[in-house]
Amino acid sequence: MILSVSDILPSVEHLLTRLILHHKIKKMKKQTKVVEYNLEASVFNWEIGPGKTVEAWGFNKQLPGPVLQANVGDAVVIRVTNSLTQPTTVHWHGLCLPASMDGTDAAQKPIAPGETFEYRFEVHQAGTFWYHSHTNETFQMERGLYGALVVHEDTDPVTDRDRIFMIDDMKLDANNEFTAPGWYVPRVIETHDGRQGNTLLINGKENPTINVHAGQMERWRFINSSSARYFLLHMEGREFKIIGTDGGLLESPRPVTEVLITPGERMDVVVGPFNEGETFLIESLPYNRTTFLRPKRESFATVKVGERKKSIAFLPETLRKIEPIARQDEPVTRKIKLSVGPSFKNGMDFKINDHVHVNDKPVKVGELQVWEIDNVSLMDHPFHLHGFFFQVLDENGKEPEYRAWKDTYNIKPRTKVKIAWIPDNRPGTWMYHCHILEHHAAGMMANFDVIDGSKPYIEKPAQHVHHHHM
Ligand code: C2O
Ligand code: CU
Repeated sequence: MILSVSDILPSVEHLLTRLILHHKIKKMKKQTKVVEYNLEASVFNWEIGPGKTVEAWGFNKQLPGPVLQANVGDAVVIRVTNSLTQPTTVHWHGLCLPASMDGTDAAQKPIAPGETFEYRFEVHQAGTFWYHSHTNETFQMERGLYGALVVHEDTDPVTDRDRIFMIDDMKLDANNEFTAPGWYVPRVIETHDGRQGNTLLINGKENPTINVHAGQMERWRFINSSSARYFLLHMEGREFKIIGTDGGLLESPRPVTEVLITPGERMDVVVGPFNEGETFLIESLPYNRTTFLRPKRESFATVKVGERKKSIAFLPETLRKIEPIARQDEPVTRKIKLSVGPSFKNGMDFKINDHVHVNDKPVKVGELQVWEIDNVSLMDHPFHLHGFFFQVLDENGKEPEYRAWKDTYNIKPRTKVKIAWIPDNRPGTWMYHCHILEHHAAGMMANFDVIDGSKPYIEKPAQHVHHHHM
């Protein structure tokens, strides 16, 4: 029998692919462990408290979605299936991944209903991260499309238990249904304040009871996944220690009785040891961020201290070293102005450098970035940079109290904050924005490219890249 070229070709191709695949798998096996997860975004009933059920949008019929865990050096593969009626994307908040995996509309075509998208990246930093929908966020995140992602490391301090607390709130009507502001004025107020509800949630539950053992020390990883709520953590005056934030551990533990956690931010704290029989609240003290809504002291959960158990916890005085990446007086390379102004069409615009939804100038791989973020508005904005950690150099002329790696930092009213970061070799389109979801949607966001300086750059026209679904 004579074989034609076309008969042979597919088999050769097949063989080649198999060889390449085999080689790739061997390489991966040698260097990294692959951690795989499947997430399905869907609509389901979720009980937030006894007899109180909401129609949630979430991952794997849980709210929050499953906790994804990996170790430093692992390759993570997450297949996201969209069983919603709207397109969606998933952003991996705080992770230093390739631009194409960042999960924004700028990075990928949104996952259409019925489709699956595979996110792949390696994790190189230990810490508390999270994932959330990055499409029609004011709607999808409000309903529960988020979860935690924790990266562990051998050098993590030893505690008796490690827990995650995702802080959220929902704005529900008397029938436990999500509401939308009906007319102009409430709509403008919701844009201004951000959507803040009076149903307070910790890990998707209303006022849960947390049982701990006397004599033990636990690590509590707080993640603020709310649309707009400023969570000023307080435990009825009990002292706890901050040991980490967005980009992992601090240099040393910081004893406090309260700490502010703004939308998008994380704070890892070590609590205890407590005495048997103690009961106290995990609460938020009032924080005035100049909203129409009056700030209040509110409780999120009740902690009950049970039977004494022995402890293996050890919290060293030095957690790690964080090298400063720039001096406090380092010259500024970019200025970003945050402002709020009236808008004929939307009632109120939230702006970056006087425009809404902007394309900012590119930055070059390897070039130190010193950005001055100038909040000229009268309200707070949690500034979030995708894909890269920064250090705060200066806040209104003052050096911060301690050094940390951040990806989200609260910019107070009439405040200038100077941050420094280095774009490592991950070219592509990235973004920064205010993490109050309604401010982001109302324009306080920018895309920018990280470019390999050796190639010519074609400038992108400023454009409106935002989609509204409601
Ligand atoms: Cu946590 Cu652009 O978001
Ligand atoms: Cu804002």
